[in-house]
Amino acid sequence: MAHYPRLSVTPDLEKLVKDYVLPSSLGFGKHVAPLMATCLYTNGEWQQPKIEAYGPMPFVPAAKIFQYGQQVFEGMKAYRQKNGKTVMFRPLENFKRFNLSAARLAMPEIPEELFMGCVESVVHAMKNIIPTGEGESLYLRPFMVATEPGLSISVSSDYLFFVLASPSGSYFSADRVSVMIERVNARAAHGGTGSAKTSGNYAASLTASIMAKKLGYHQTIWLDACEHKYIEEFSGMNFFAVMNNELFTPALGTTILHGITRSSLISLAKHQGIKVNEAKIDIDELISSVRSGDCNEVFACGTAAIVTPVAELGESDGTTRYPIKTPPKEKSVAARLRQQLLAIQTGAAEDHFGWVHPIN
Ligand SMILES: Cc1ncc(COP(=O)(O)O)c(C=O)c1O
Repeated sequence: MAHYPRLSVTPDLEKLVKDYVLPSSLGFGKHVAPLMATCLYTNGEWQQPKIEAYGPMPFVPAAKIFQYGQQVFEGMKAYRQKNGKTVMFRPLENFKRFNLSAARLAMPEIPEELFMGCVESVVHAMKNIIPTGEGESLYLRPFMVATEPGLSISVSSDYLFFVLASPSGSYFSADRVSVMIERVNARAAHGGTGSAKTSGNYAASLTASIMAKKLGYHQTIWLDACEHKYIEEFSGMNFFAVMNNELFTPALGTTILHGITRSSLISLAKHQGIKVNEAKIDIDELISSVRSGDCNEVFACGTAAIVTPVAELGESDGTTRYPIKTPPKEKSVAARLRQQLLAIQTGAAEDHFGWVHPIN
C-alpha cells in the first residue's frame, strides 16, 4: 500500500483536539472538527499543504467561487474499529472521482500524494475524536474552490484545497424514509455536470427539498431531464429497487453521480448470487410494480446514508402516495447489504474485497 506524506501537527493544534468534547447529539455534518488541512494552488503549481485550526478564512468577495461557482468536493468517512484500528473505506475511489469532477469544472487535478496525504493527516490527527456508535464516523469533506478575483467568466488561476472533518451520526433521523417524485424540474441533463460532485448540482435540488419537507417527505427522487420518465437518483444518494428478488439500479451516465457505495453494493450482491440489473427504470412502471407487490424494496445508498430503505414514494401534489410493502428485516435485501457493508467498514467482518484502507 502506498505511503503518503503525513503533515505535521503543532502542540497547539494537538491541544485543540485533546480539549475537544464530542457533542452528545451528533447529527450529520453539524459539528466541524477543530483541525483542517489546506493547500494553495498558484502559478500553475500546488504549494505546501498544512494542518491548521478550523476557522474563518479571508476571501475577497470577487473570488470566482462566489461569482461562477467553480467548486468540487468529496464525501468520505473514517471509522474507529472495535480493535482500535482507524480505517477509511475505498478513499482512492474518492480521490479519482475528485479529479474527474475537477476536470469537468476546468479546475486543476490534484496529485494522489497531496489528496491522500491531507486526508490521512486530518484523520490521524483526530483519530481520538472519531465517534464509535452504530452508524457513526468521522465524515470528511475534501473540497476545492476558485480564489482568483475577477468578474469576467473565465477559468481561475488560483485555488484552495481543504479537508474538513465532522464527527457524525446517521444522515436520516428515521430508519425508513418517504420520497417525493420530482416530475417537473431536473437535477442534471446529458452533457451537464450531473456526474461531477460540484455544489451547483446540490443548489439546484434545494427548491424540491423545500417542497418535499413541506409535504412530509425526507428526500427527492429525480427523473431524466428529457422525458421526465426515467429514475436518475436521489439528491444525495443512488437508487436501488428489488423486484422479484433481483436488484435494479439506473445505469451510469453523465447525469448521475457514480457512487462508491452503489458500486460496492453491486459487488456484494453479485458475490452472493443476486442478479443486478443496471438499466433504465421507468417511474410509472416502478409505481405499478410497487402497487402489485412485485417491487417490495426501494432503497437509497451513499457514504452519508449508507443503505436507507424507502417506506413510500409520493407525488409532489401531496395527495398520492405509494407505500412499499417491504418484507421483514430478516428477508430484506437492503437490510442484508447494509449489515454486510457496515460489518466490513467497522471491522466486524473480513474484508475480502480489499476496500478497507488502514490509517497507520
Ligand atoms: C448526488 C449523489 N448521488 C450519489 C451519492 C452516493 O455516492 P457515494 O456512495 O460515493 O457516497 C452521493 C453522495 O456522495 C451524491 O451526492
